[in-house]
Amino acid sequence: MGRMGDATELLERDAERAELSRLLESARSGEGRIALVYGEAGIGKTALVTELARLHARDVRLFWGACDPLSTPRPLAPLLDIAWTQGGGQLAGRIAAGASREAIFQAFFEELRSPKPPAIVVIEDLHWADEATLDLVKFLGRRAQRTTALLVLTWREDGMRADHPLRASIGELPRRKRPQQNRERSRCRVGRWPLRSPPVHRSGLERRARMPRYLVERSFPQGLVIPIDASGEKFCLSVVESNGADGVTWVHSYVSDDRRRSFCVCDAPSPEAIRRTAARNKLPVDRITQVRVLDPYFYR
Ligand SMILES: Nc1ncnc2c1ncn2[C@@H]1O[C@H](COP(=O)(O)OP(=O)(O)OP(=O)(O)O)[C@@H](O)[C@H]1O
Ligand SMILES: [Mg+2]
Repeated sequence: MGRMGDATELLERDAERAELSRLLESARSGEGRIALVYGEAGIGKTALVTELARLHARDVRLFWGACDPLSTPRPLAPLLDIAWTQGGGQLAGRIAAGASREAIFQAFFEELRSPKPPAIVVIEDLHWADEATLDLVKFLGRRAQRTTALLVLTWREDGMRADHPLRASIGELPRRKRPQQNRERSRCRVGRWPLRSPPVHRSGLERRARMPRYLVERSFPQGLVIPIDASGEKFCLSVVESNGADGVTWVHSYVSDDRRRSFCVCDAPSPEAIRRTAARNKLPVDRITQVRVLDPYFYR
């Protein structure tokens, strides 16, 4: 059942893998959990979740559904995926009979309460979710603790607007509280995995794994103009290519509203390598600072 990828070795994901497995053990012992896995496109969300499913394939039930990038999304697409791959059962029966949304959700919830074996429920790519799927997330989120399931939700964080409806749905999930504040609530854990570091390509991962990350500050007194057309694309790609000669990877940049300052995040072997590529690309450099991720969600 579900999509199982090849057993490729995942780099730099030991901590995430171990933590997710730990949450699954809580689910196995009767306290369901929720894991949020999000990050930019291609950062390795699917690969991480596939790996989790593969590691536990022998002794879990896997339910895997995904949202699609359709202009008119299919209502409840992930749950339909799950029902089809399950091949029968109460869930599929209620869907086929045109039961109410609540009755369908309830059937799935009952399925996840069955004590053995525990379940991994993956709902992927929620940035494309339709309204009914977001309702499902809220419904399961509120009841997850009473199941023997690990509910894994994935989405692309880049480019998601502040008012995207997924944000409200995620915001309504039970929060993690400190044990001394509230013992009951503390047991309803939502783990967050904002995937950041490794990029898409395996070779890139190996190279980046050893490389520090830098914030490069630049000034453009006349304002930085990169047109959003073929010439802009050509410029950006030529910078990327030229960086490659010095082992520098341009991760992404921020630009001030007046476009006179930019802040570029780069992985590089050294500050000198960044200065060399900047000279080649005719880009100014004010300051280079070695940095690390400090994520507010780690403190939740
Ligand atoms: N930790 C890793 N080690 C090695 N390869 C990885 C790792 N993470 C991802 N990859 C590889 O990078 C590619 C993209 O990963 P994946 O499809 O999981 O990204 P994603 O975050 O799900 O992307 P999307 O937002 O498009 O769904 C895949 O070929 C995958 O095998
Ligand atoms: Mg994916």
